Amino acid sequence: MAGGPSPQWLQQHAQLTLDRVLPRLHATFGHADPDAWQVYVTRLRANFHHLFGLLHHLYGDRYDFFYHLEQILETTARLYLSRPADLRALDAARESDEAWFQSQRMLGGVCYVDLFAGNLQGLRDKLPYLKELGLTYLHLMPLFKAPDGENDGGYAVSSYREVDPKLGTMAELSDLAAELRQEGISLTVDFVFNHTSNEHEWARRAQAGEPDYEDYYYVFGDRTMPDAYERTLREIFPEARAGSFTWRPDMGKWVWTTFYSFQWDLNYGNPAVFRAMLEEMLSLANAGVEVLRLDAVAFIWKQMGTNCENLPEAHMIIQAYNALARIAAPALLFKSEAIVHPDEVARYISTQECQLSYNPLLMALLWESLATREVKLLQHSMAERFRIAPGCAWVNYVRVHDDIGWTFDDAAATRLGMNGYDHRRFLNAFYTGRFPGSFSRGLPFMENPRTGDARISGTGASLAGLEKALREEGPEQVELAIGRILLIHSVILSIGGIPLIYLGDEVGTLNDYAYRDDPAKASDSRWVHRPATDWAHVARRHEPGSIEQRIYGQLHRLIEVRKAHPSFAGSAMQVIDPGNGHVFGYVRQGGEGRVLVLCNFSEHEQRVPANIVRANGLSYTFDDLVSGEGLALGDDLVLAPYQFVWLVAR
Ligand code: GLC
Ligand code: GLC
Repeated sequence: MAGGPSPQWLQQHAQLTLDRVLPRLHATFGHADPDAWQVYVTRLRANFHHLFGLLHHLYGDRYDFFYHLEQILETTARLYLSRPADLRALDAARESDEAWFQSQRMLGGVCYVDLFAGNLQGLRDKLPYLKELGLTYLHLMPLFKAPDGENDGGYAVSSYREVDPKLGTMAELSDLAAELRQEGISLTVDFVFNHTSNEHEWARRAQAGEPDYEDYYYVFGDRTMPDAYERTLREIFPEARAGSFTWRPDMGKWVWTTFYSFQWDLNYGNPAVFRAMLEEMLSLANAGVEVLRLDAVAFIWKQMGTNCENLPEAHMIIQAYNALARIAAPALLFKSEAIVHPDEVARYISTQECQLSYNPLLMALLWESLATREVKLLQHSMAERFRIAPGCAWVNYVRVHDDIGWTFDDAAATRLGMNGYDHRRFLNAFYTGRFPGSFSRGLPFMENPRTGDARISGTGASLAGLEKALREEGPEQVELAIGRILLIHSVILSIGGIPLIYLGDEVGTLNDYAYRDDPAKASDSRWVHRPATDWAHVARRHEPGSIEQRIYGQLHRLIEVRKAHPSFAGSAMQVIDPGNGHVFGYVRQGGEGRVLVLCNFSEHEQRVPANIVRANGLSYTFDDLVSGEGLALGDDLVLAPYQFVWLVAR
C-alpha cells in the first residue's frame, strides 16, 4: 500500500505488541491448561506478524487500535481454550495432512435441513442415504434463527448462536457434526457475515438509537451519502427495491442493504464488528463446523466512488479471519462464495484466504455449452482459468440454491467472435424457454428493466430439458434430457476439485411452482428450485427403468469410479483440443494414472480423430471407465449424443 508504514516498522510494532499483550493474556488464560496455552502461543507467534499487518492496514489509524487488537487476541485465546478436545485432535490431524480435501474420494452435497428432512433429528435419520451416495462433505444451508416469513432462505440471520427452533438446537447441531465426522463427512455451514437480519440484537439496538450499534451498520440521516454511493453501485436485487439503501421510518434513517431490505450490511470499518463476528465464527468452529461457506464475500467492504465489490480490504478481512482461524481452530476451512467476474473469483483463493471456492465459471459455461452445443468458450476459459492456487481446490457444481448468472469474461467471448451482452440475452432467452426450440424450462430471476439484465432459476433437470420432455414431448427427448444431466455431472465429477451435488439433482427433481402460493416466497423465483424432498420420488431410484433410477444409478456408478481412481485427485487438469467444436476434452493426471475425458455436448453423433485420441491418451487401446468396455482405435472415436468417456490406457 502506497504511503503505509514500512515493513520494518510493522515488524517492530508487531513484536512490541506481542510482548505487551502476551503476559496479560497469560495471566487470564495461562494457568487452567498450560499445554493448551503453549499451543496457543506457538500458533499466535507463527501468524501474528501477518495478522498485525492486515489489522494495522484496516484499523491502524484509529486512536483505539491497540485496544481492539488486544480484544481480538483475547477472543481468540478464550475460544481456543474452550475448543473441545475432539476438535483439537481434528486440528492436529488436519495440520499433518493439509491435502486431505484433494482426495478423489471427496464428494459434497448441499441441502436445506427443513426441506430435506424436516429438522436436525430428521437429518440424522437420513444419514444412511447420504452415505449411500458417498458424501464426505455436507453443506447445510442457513439453519440459524431468522425472521418469520421472508428471510431469504435463512440468509438473514438473527442469531449466529441459536439454531432456528423449528430445526433444533445448537446442542443437536454439535451432536450432528460429531456424528457426521465419525462417518467421514465434514459439516459445512454458511458464515453469513456481510449482513445480519433486521431482527438481530445488534440491529434492534441500532433501531433503538444506541450509537455504538448504529456503528455496526451503515446508517445515514439523509440521502446525501446514499446518493453519493449509489452513483457507482450495481443493483444486486433490483426486484426488491431500487438502489442499495432502505428507509427506516421508525429510525428516520437510511440503512445500507445490498440484498433484501431486511438484510443489513455490517460495517467492517468498525473493528468492534470485526471482533464480534470473529467470536461468531470461532463459536461455529467450536460447534464442530469444518468448512465455513463465506457468503457474499465480494460485498464486505465499502469505499466511496467504487462499486464496493471485491475491494482490497475485503480480502484483508478474510485473510485476517483466516490467520485467526489458524490460531484458534486450524481445522477450519473457508469456501469463498464470489459469484463475480472470473478474475475476481480467483483473487479470493489462496491458503491464506479461502482454501476452497465455488467455480461459478465452470458452472455457467456447462450450461452455456448445452444451450449452444458448442464448447469453444468452455474450452478456452478452462484452459486459461482452471488452474488454482497451490493447496486450494475448486468446488465444482452444476446447480445450487441460487440463480445462474452468466459470469464469463467478455474479452474471452470477444476473442471467439461473440458479443458478451448479446450472448447473455440469448442464454436468458434460452433458459427461460423463450428462445424457439429451447429444451429448457427456467424462470428469470431479478430482471432489471433498467439494464436488461437477468439471471436464471430452475432445477438442473428442468433446465436440462426433462420437464419439457416429460410433459410435452416423449421418450426420445427424455433420453436426451437424461443425457444432458449426466453429461454435466460427469464433468464436475472428473475435472478436478470437490464435486458438489445439489441434493435432489441426483434423482432428477423438477421445478416446483407451488412457491407462488406462499406470500413469503412468491416474489423470489429461486424457490422454484428449492422444493421439499419427495422421499417417494427418491425411493424410486432403485426401481429399474424409472427416470430416477436411470439418473441416480449412472451417477452413483460415476461416483464410485471417481473414488476408485487416484488420477481424479487434486486439480491438475489439461484442456485438449479434440478437433471437434462440440466435444470438450481434458486429461487428468494424478499420481501415476492418466485419464482422457471426452464429452459430446450435442444431440448428434460426433467424431474425434483417432490420432488425437492416441496423442492425448498415449495409447492405441483403452478402457472406458464409464461404460466398463474396452476400446481399440482403428478409426475415429465416435461419441453418441451427449456421450462422455473416461479413457485409461490399457
Ligand atoms: C448469497 C446466498 C444467496 C443470498 C445472498 C444474500 O449469495 O447464496 O442465497 O440471497 O447471499 O445473503
Ligand atoms: C449476486 C451475488 C451473489 C449471490 C447472488 C444471489 O450475484 O454476487 O453473491 O449469490 O447475487 O442471487
